[in-house]
Amino acid sequence: MTEAILLVGGQGTRLRPVTVNTPKPMVPTAGVPFLAHQIARAAAAGVTHVVMATCYLAEVFEPYFGDGSAFGISLEYVVEDEPLGTGGAIRNAARRLTGGPDSAVLVFNGDILTGLDIAGLVASHERADADVSLHLVQVEDPRAFGLVPTDPSGRVLAFTEKPQTPEEIITDQINAGCYVFRRSVIDSIPEGRPVSVERETFPGLLASGARLHGVTENTYWMDLGRPDAIVQASADLVRGVVPSPAVPGRCGEYLVLPGAEVAAGAKLSGGTVVGAGARIGAGASVQGSIVLADAVIGQDAQVNASLIGAGASVGPRTVLDRAVIGDAAAVGADNELRGGARVWCGARLPDAAIRFSSDS
Ligand code: GDD
Ligand code: MG
Repeated sequence: MTEAILLVGGQGTRLRPVTVNTPKPMVPTAGVPFLAHQIARAAAAGVTHVVMATCYLAEVFEPYFGDGSAFGISLEYVVEDEPLGTGGAIRNAARRLTGGPDSAVLVFNGDILTGLDIAGLVASHERADADVSLHLVQVEDPRAFGLVPTDPSGRVLAFTEKPQTPEEIITDQINAGCYVFRRSVIDSIPEGRPVSVERETFPGLLASGARLHGVTENTYWMDLGRPDAIVQASADLVRGVVPSPAVPGRCGEYLVLPGAEVAAGAKLSGGTVVGAGARIGAGASVQGSIVLADAVIGQDAQVNASLIGAGASVGPRTVLDRAVIGDAAAVGADNELRGGARVWCGARLPDAAIRFSSDS
């Protein structure tokens, strides 16, 4: 039996600026709340017991995920009165684990989508007899992450969270936000106060000579910090680029949920998902986008790599490229919004109000 802790709390939990009313971990991604993919992938890898560590958003998770039986696991929730940081949250959630001091405990950041071979990471952790094993990936710009240089055997040499100076950037190998801990190591994290696993626990363990084992697997990996990453992740899930048992349908160019209406002659592609009760007008083209429940896309609109909030409307002939339209917002006909434009929830944009292209 493998147990896991899923970290879903802290400051960055809501999508800000607020464009979609739903908390980030619950934003429908390929038709279901994002966290469903993480839970389903963990279950498929043999995890049987998950403890979700949350702060102030516990009430939004439980109605959807319940006791986890729909995923074939047992799921519990631990709510922090005050955010305890990543390490404090792990320590606090560990109260609910049932394994012994030497058991392997998986820990996931709740805002990453990964194709990691989870069972492989656990096996490698056991082979290395490590105190903690960390999944590492290589990225072009490591500045927003935890830097984790290793020696050729995989032994972790240092852990530098969010390097501040160019001299600190000594590797492009970063912490991918998925760990295996020896249970007794979790129990050594101080209790009852905020602790950062990245800034305090890992550097402390290294200083005390503990064995931290890095597993570099350059699999599919996406940090869902930004709305455009959520849109991309959804499209990748729908197309099966990263497989998830939680996708509610067959993988392909699009996913249309029950109760949506797509007019004949509308074109859906690139992993677009159309939510329940949404309507796509004739001649519209929707590519690699998320259209949430009850949203309306007008005739001949062109939507690319965008997120259309629940109940929002997009007028006829409007062009959206990498835009985010908040829940219940109304974008009139003949607008053009590009490159990260965000329309606030409930805002109204008149017909022909904004364009990006030249007059010619
Ligand atoms: N329960 C709980 N309580 N969860 C928390 C808390 C807390 O106080 N603080 C953060 N978390 C959760 C977040 O919800 C997220 O799922 C995870 O812990 C990581 O926190 P982030 O705030 O998203 O950190 P980050 O993205 O800046 O950096 C982390 O992830 C990177 C990979 O995406 C670090 O682990 C980096 O080292 C790593 O490279
Ligand atoms: Mg994050």
